[in-house]
Amino acid sequence: MIDPFGRTITYLRVSVTDRCDFRCIYCMCEDMTFLPKAELLTLEELDRMCSAFVRKGVRRLRLTGGEPLVRRNIMSLFRSLSRHLKSGALDDLTLTSNGSQLSRYAHELAGYGVTRINVSIDSLDAGKFAAITRRGRLDTVMEGLAAAKDAGLAIKINTVALKGVNDDEFHDLVAWCGDQGFDLTFIETMPMGEIDEDRTDRYLPMPVVRRRLAERWTLRDTDYKTGGPARYVDVAETGRRIGFITPLTHNFCESCNRVRLTCTGTLYMCLGQDDAADLRAPLRASESDHLLDAAIDEAIARKPKGHDFIIDRDHNRPAVARHMSVTGG
Ligand code: 5AD
Ligand code: SF4
Repeated sequence: MIDPFGRTITYLRVSVTDRCDFRCIYCMCEDMTFLPKAELLTLEELDRMCSAFVRKGVRRLRLTGGEPLVRRNIMSLFRSLSRHLKSGALDDLTLTSNGSQLSRYAHELAGYGVTRINVSIDSLDAGKFAAITRRGRLDTVMEGLAAAKDAGLAIKINTVALKGVNDDEFHDLVAWCGDQGFDLTFIETMPMGEIDEDRTDRYLPMPVVRRRLAERWTLRDTDYKTGGPARYVDVAETGRRIGFITPLTHNFCESCNRVRLTCTGTLYMCLGQDDAADLRAPLRASESDHLLDAAIDEAIARKPKGHDFIIDRDHNRPAVARHMSVTGG
């Protein structure tokens, strides 16, 4: 799959549910309306969708949400998708999780060929963690991380940088990840979906985060790449990597290799644009994948050049109406 700008699409992110057991302040409002369950693709249909993309050249698959591990029977999807790892069609099957269910599932995930996971932690202070996630418990997530380590999974922590919320903890997070053997990525808050506050108040540009980290840590630029949008530095003191994701301060769209599928079978060709393609209708219209394949080709042919996220006092409305939990970041 090659888009009109010559970018080869090799990475599919799939939001398997828009539901989550947390309500992070920058992601959701307190009172969220989720999709009726009847709208969702079944796990068998999700498998069929993913397998069509794998057949078309996707080499990396990430299941996200919402929280992917709150979807009932989600392990059966990992189990069936693991056949593409075994056949060599897929290089990587992974997930982004809030960690709340990991103590239950980490070993099973490792058994299905998952070798690494991303876990979101925005604070190491139990009270602050509870306030940011509105209903998460840090100790549960810590138990989940311990289980993931025990299962041999490589762990990357994602932290959304929030001015006045967790910006006093960046050094602690770097030190903690160093101790634990985790990589760490800081993310700028993106204007997606209405939340209960003004994101402008919380927005912290990555160059500022990096400058602050450099006051304590020796950061060396690397050309390490994961095929994603993060830029990486090595931390001399901990020997670990730190990534910076800068959707607002630096646009990385020119190397974009990904598309995003929602749990209702809608394909978003760009995180920051509203244009989308319905793949559920062609999937359901035929038992063969001809219609689906044609719909995928048609969608890739209109992948936009990039997003234009802006956050400032003049642009304090979401760039896209949907929340991150619809497409899973
Ligand atoms: N801006 C930036 N990051 C977000 N996440 C969720 N919503 C937003 C947003 N509006 C993060 C989560 C998770 C990752 C998938 O995206 O914390 O780490
Ligand atoms: Fe859930 Fe992740 Fe959104 Fe937090 S950021 S509410 S954990 S989907």
